[in-house]
Amino acid sequence: MVKIAPSILSADFTRLGEEIRSIKDADYLHFDVMDGIFVPNISIGIPVLESVRKMTDMLLDVHLMITKPIRFVSDFIDAGADLVVLHAEADTPDNTAEALKTIRRRGKRAGLSIKPKTPADILLPFWESLDLVLVMTVEPGFGGQKFMTNQLPKITALRQTVDRFGLNCEIEVDGGINCETAGLCIEAGADVLVAGSYVFGAPDRSAAIRELKQGDCSSACSHASPKGPAI
Ligand code: DX5
Ligand code: ZN
Repeated sequence: MVKIAPSILSADFTRLGEEIRSIKDADYLHFDVMDGIFVPNISIGIPVLESVRKMTDMLLDVHLMITKPIRFVSDFIDAGADLVVLHAEADTPDNTAEALKTIRRRGKRAGLSIKPKTPADILLPFWESLDLVLVMTVEPGFGGQKFMTNQLPKITALRQTVDRFGLNCEIEVDGGINCETAGLCIEAGADVLVAGSYVFGAPDRSAAIRELKQGDCSSACSHASPKGPAI
């Protein structure tokens, strides 16, 4: 069954504790870190992660959208990250390899993310060091964007690589996930789906998480396509 990782970027930060409790049925908690340089936006960082760590036992999936992440991986682990995901585009291959090694040495899970325009080949030198690959299906930087269907073949190709070589590596998809696009990602072979606006925009978060896992919209769902013929 696919895992769901709600992104707290779309949560109400004035009630963050309550918001996190509302997604207890999810598998991972996705924590988006942006530096205003690697992406054109600034979000949350180490002090917020420390506070989140104090109030939940959920797996904290920290997505670093920052330049030269090697500078900060240890600090994010100290703050409570269980899984640290860097961007392959954010530094030299040597520094990326070193950062991944540091994460593993600290006993945490290491992940590498690729932006929509980055080919999956860039992952080639790193496979042995990866517990997770994160495929961006929007340009990173903002929640609430439209899912890029042209990324689906990349997910399929990664699924084939992981299966062919028996790699112990999850495939995570991030950006524009709703109950319709979830189905496409599950079909393409995703293991983990990140969803920000869809989960936190839903009045019933448990129901939203259930729908994403099924990759199917219920009739009551506002995202459901009209069933009848187009008029
Ligand atoms: C975008 C972030 C995503 C974002 C997803 O740069 O990495 O995790 O919060 O938000 P939705 O699900 O609204 O696209
Ligand atoms: Zn993210």
